[in-house]
Amino acid sequence: MLRIGIILGSTRTGRFADRPAEWLLGLAKRDGVAFELVDLRDYALPFFDEPKSPLREPSKHEVAVRWSRKVAELDGFIFVTGEYNHSIPAALKNALDYLYAEWNRKPAAFVAYGNAGGARGVEQLRLILVELQVAPLRSAVHIGRAEFIDMLMNGKSFADHPHLEQSANTMLDDVVWWAHALRAARTGPR
Ligand SMILES: Cc1cc2nc3c(=O)[nH]c(=O)nc-3n(C[C@H](O)[C@H](O)[C@H](O)COP(=O)(O)O)c2cc1C
Repeated sequence: MLRIGIILGSTRTGRFADRPAEWLLGLAKRDGVAFELVDLRDYALPFFDEPKSPLREPSKHEVAVRWSRKVAELDGFIFVTGEYNHSIPAALKNALDYLYAEWNRKPAAFVAYGNAGGARGVEQLRLILVELQVAPLRSAVHIGRAEFIDMLMNGKSFADHPHLEQSANTMLDDVVWWAHALRAARTGPR
């Protein structure tokens, strides 16, 4: 079974992140693949303050050890994130910084929201992921200003914006393809 984590990038009270994450989980049905929500609220990591980079020495902090185990068991990631000052939420950056090897050679796709569909945040996230040896994919769902406001203020839902489902399905197919390919490469003969 391939395992893909849908990682909620925001931990803020009243966050929007739950809605796209739950919506995506509902669409994420693929043979041989187990999708799961991974909520950073369940991994309340302190602000990174370790003596060494996780590339050299893993954190021994109890939450970091749990976080490490979770990311290590995943074969791919879908980051669900809002845009914070044209980048990603600090809680997500902190959670990324805590690990190294656990991220390596796995694919990542994106669901983002904001005034420009969260695109500027996703571009920053792609750059960060390259340093963690994650393969950031082209595929992403961008929930733009009109859809975002409709859902936040006008009581609309994802069903009112069916084009989002189309791009989510394309993204899901893509991340599954890459997760299979990279798992085979990680675990196969060298
Ligand atoms: C600190 C902060 C910075 C933000 N910066 C941006 C931004 O640069 N671009 C944007 O489109 N929205 C921005 N927003 C609005 C967020 O996209 C919006 O609040 C969204 O709901 C955040 O995701 P969350 O609710 O899942 O935490 C910002 C919000 C916060 C709290």
